[in-house]
Amino acid sequence: MTAAPERRPERPALDIEAIRRDFPILQQQVHGQPLAYLDNAATSQKPAAVIEAVSRYYREDNANIHRAVHTLADRATAAYEGAREKVRRFINAGSSREVVFTRGATEAINLVAASFGQRLREGDEILVSHLEHHANIVPWQQLCERTGATLRVIPMTATGELDLADLDGLINERTRLVSVVHVSNVFGTINPVERIVEAAHAREIPVLLDGAQATPHAPVDVQSLGCDFYVFSGHKMYGPTGIGVLYGREALLETMPPYQTGGDMIRTVSFEGTEFNELPFRFEAGTPNIAGAVGLGAAVDYLEGVGLERIAAREQELLAYGTQALESVEGLSIVGTAPRKAAVLSFVVEDMHPGDMGTILDHQGVAVRTGHHCAMPAMQFLGLPGTTRASLAFYNTFEEVDRLVKALAFAREVLG
Ligand code: ALA
Repeated sequence: MTAAPERRPERPALDIEAIRRDFPILQQQVHGQPLAYLDNAATSQKPAAVIEAVSRYYREDNANIHRAVHTLADRATAAYEGAREKVRRFINAGSSREVVFTRGATEAINLVAASFGQRLREGDEILVSHLEHHANIVPWQQLCERTGATLRVIPMTATGELDLADLDGLINERTRLVSVVHVSNVFGTINPVERIVEAAHAREIPVLLDGAQATPHAPVDVQSLGCDFYVFSGHKMYGPTGIGVLYGREALLETMPPYQTGGDMIRTVSFEGTEFNELPFRFEAGTPNIAGAVGLGAAVDYLEGVGLERIAAREQELLAYGTQALESVEGLSIVGTAPRKAAVLSFVVEDMHPGDMGTILDHQGVAVRTGHHCAMPAMQFLGLPGTTRASLAFYNTFEEVDRLVKALAFAREVLG
């Protein structure tokens, strides 16, 4: 995610009504009210272009890839590898050998923990942060249990930011990997990951960035971030579920043993031994989610068509409006007030349980997430059982934010 958008030729502002027509699911009513879908950090909705790409693939091109010489196999392989190239361009990876398809960000982190993690020994350290969601904690915790390594944690602040005061003390000669979230799913905080990469690289320690909440919202350039691994999920960036990406620096991936083994990740197999395939296929055992990759490629096309800079600008407007609107609600406190945020609004309202509030909002047609947001340590730090979270996408409207505020007032009346 770049701090300041590059100067580009002026493009007209987004036509939100036209954009909303691209998303068939948004046209429905829930409990007799127009749907206001404000749970985009959990998963985003899919434009017709993505749904049609997946459907067209199954209707016209379906075959297994990298295996046969018949026409459909050629087309399916071209579609899958074409999607890889789109993703490479989207994150500006140096080579498609660095783009590994996985089930999602979670599997990508598990891949690194299982494969890169084999070099860990007792006394080594992995550094994560207090802002992580469970997928960037549990795989490392399990790896530490297996190896005797120690999990260290960059602390967080009451504003939902990283406390980097002791970063140089936390990164030391025992650290083997730093794995931190780019954009927090709970608070929307955009973390100063460039600073973390710089501190880790000063000691030649690789850095993994969890970009699941970054790639849908603004341009991401893995080369300018300088990270060694970058993971994200298709379904949070308007693509299908069950597909995601591990970007890994080629020189590092080359040193890593396979994650899963089986077909496609091999070059030759005999009962005496197996020679593994080249990158990135070495990390893609078995028949992959071909249709998912095709759908992700279509999502990339869609995002690039709309323009990531325009999406970022639109979401910042929604965030500013939503912050102000929520602050006007009596008894409401926004949780997570970093100066650099994606459009995530987590909040608590005095005397109201988030779960009850979520149900009442749903009955007003407003979809939000409530609870710990798969980030229990961050909630424990704040002494909260959970929050209510409205996470906005560029297709959301100011009217939907107003409806959230109105629904909250109604919830206060009902629960008060
Ligand atoms: N990490 C996803 C969320 O924030 C599941 O809702």
